[in-house]
Amino acid sequence: ALVSLRQLLDHAAENGYGIPAFNVNNLEQMRAIMQAAEKVNSPVIVQASAGARKYAGAPFLRHLMQAATEEWPDIPVVVHQDHGTSPAVCQRSIQLGFTSVMMDGSLREDGKTPADYDYNVRVTQQAVAMAHACGVSVEGELGCLGSLETGEAGEEDGVGAEGKLSHDQLLTDPEEAAEFVQATQVDALAIACGTSHGAYKFTRPPTGDILAIDRIKEINRRIPNTHLVMHGSSSVPQDWLAVINEFGGEIPETYGVPVEQIQEGIKNGVRKVNIDTDLRLASTGAIRRHLAENPSNFDPRKFLAAATDAMQEICEARFLAFGCEGQA
Ligand code: G3H
Ligand code: 13P
Ligand code: NA
Ligand code: ZN
Repeated sequence: ALVSLRQLLDHAAENGYGIPAFNVNNLEQMRAIMQAAEKVNSPVIVQASAGARKYAGAPFLRHLMQAATEEWPDIPVVVHQDHGTSPAVCQRSIQLGFTSVMMDGSLREDGKTPADYDYNVRVTQQAVAMAHACGVSVEGELGCLGSLETGEAGEEDGVGAEGKLSHDQLLTDPEEAAEFVQATQVDALAIACGTSHGAYKFTRPPTGDILAIDRIKEINRRIPNTHLVMHGSSSVPQDWLAVINEFGGEIPETYGVPVEQIQEGIKNGVRKVNIDTDLRLASTGAIRRHLAENPSNFDPRKFLAAATDAMQEICEARFLAFGCEGQA
């Protein structure tokens, strides 16, 4: 059944767990997520970016999500718009039947230029007024995702600041967060703590100076009743990087957010954990390996099934690690 983000995150807060929010673009990702959730009896958050809508087309995305609730009627599913760049984008998602939208007013409508605080409040208030009138939840964002090592935003198409970000922009200020939540009445708040989108988050296994879990603790102490969201939370599994590189890929040394650090976040108010890159890496590794080991195969179902299995394994591991087992 479809549920709103607010309903699910309230349940997660009451029961002390966090929920991975996986990005979906296609059938294989959707099946991997739902099959994993069924196995461990976990609720689900699936999210679609602007890029996903462009890739799959709005009608296919909408029906993909509906198909999930039709095949698994007993699993609560939040269908969330990831990184909406304007109230208008959020409105279109609401019309498509999404139960939650992200109004990312930390960036201007181009998705690249860091926005000032007043702009962020204004567009987020607009999105909240519209969404709440429809029973739809809103995630806002304060602070800019990006690396504390380089000041760069990371490399997803469509979302991410252009140019260097300052230390202040890269870490959400707890006092400003309190003001922002009060002014906008968002249901969940995405914060910046040194993570960034994509595979190239850290040049070394992260320590407290480049992954600021302490900042999450400070924010949570100031606004303990606000559900916090961690973006850029892929762990970038070293074993999948090795598989990709063994079978013809070329991915340089890089590190993600360790699962233990996410668990620390969940102990301190993080309820939604955004993960896209890990499923991309697992599916690419599985497909490269499958094609290399089965050179005569030309049935895409075979290598796509290998990708689905690999993604499902990641989903299951995250559901278990974040405490979702049995919470559906
Ligand atoms: O926020 C970034 C997500 O990983 C979505 O990425 O814009 O390439 O679909 P995308
Ligand atoms: P990753 O690139 O770390 O998977 O983050 C995804 C994300 O934050 C989507 O909003
Ligand atoms: Na989001
Ligand atoms: Zn994100």
